[in-house]
Amino acid sequence: MRALIIYDSKHEAGATHAIAECITNALREGGIEATICRPKDPCPNPRNFDLIVVGTPIYYERPMRSVLEFIDRNDGLRGLKVAVFITCFAASKKIPAPIRNAVIRRYLNSVLKHVKGEVVASKVFKGWIRSPDPSVLEECAEWGKTLVKIAQKLSALASKGSRGEELSYA
Ligand SMILES: Cc1cc2nc3c(=O)[nH]c(=O)nc-3n(C[C@H](O)[C@H](O)[C@H](O)COP(=O)(O)O)c2cc1C
Repeated sequence: MRALIIYDSKHEAGATHAIAECITNALREGGIEATICRPKDPCPNPRNFDLIVVGTPIYYERPMRSVLEFIDRNDGLRGLKVAVFITCFAASKKIPAPIRNAVIRRYLNSVLKHVKGEVVASKVFKGWIRSPDPSVLEECAEWGKTLVKIAQKLSALASKGSRGEELSYA
């Protein structure tokens, strides 16, 4: 299995970078061949990967344009399996749940509406400005493990399909 992690951030050593690396490490530990890339760099063709993980911070209520443009210029990752994560302050537990849920749903949807592939997972992480939040780093390692399980399931389904067996996500 091969996974491509595409993310961007305005901060070289910011939360989104740390979370993208944490997810990449968890995928590698789970035996997935993971490649991490930022849209401004020459990234490999997503079509050569079994799973695409797309991540962006939210600044001024919006995801990063570079990440949305990457999705758009790759035909919305149509036909691919896609996992999406965002980092933002709105995920803070200090914000009352009804408001928090409404805001993070809106943020997540602003990325998801660009995706034409199959969204197999999505996650919102609480960002930070200076020091990393250890609980968020634990959370991203856990989400990385969840992605490994999803990737393994996809791989099993694909080999079932190639043997002409009926496919089922159940
Ligand atoms: C200039 C700026 C604008 C931000 N705007 C928002 C916002 O509109 N909503 C939100 O929930 N968080 C907002 N945040 C918080 C960021 O999403 C959070 O700090 C995230 O970790 C940033 O990712 P980075 O560390 O990779 O830069 C903002 C942060 C900055 C610095």
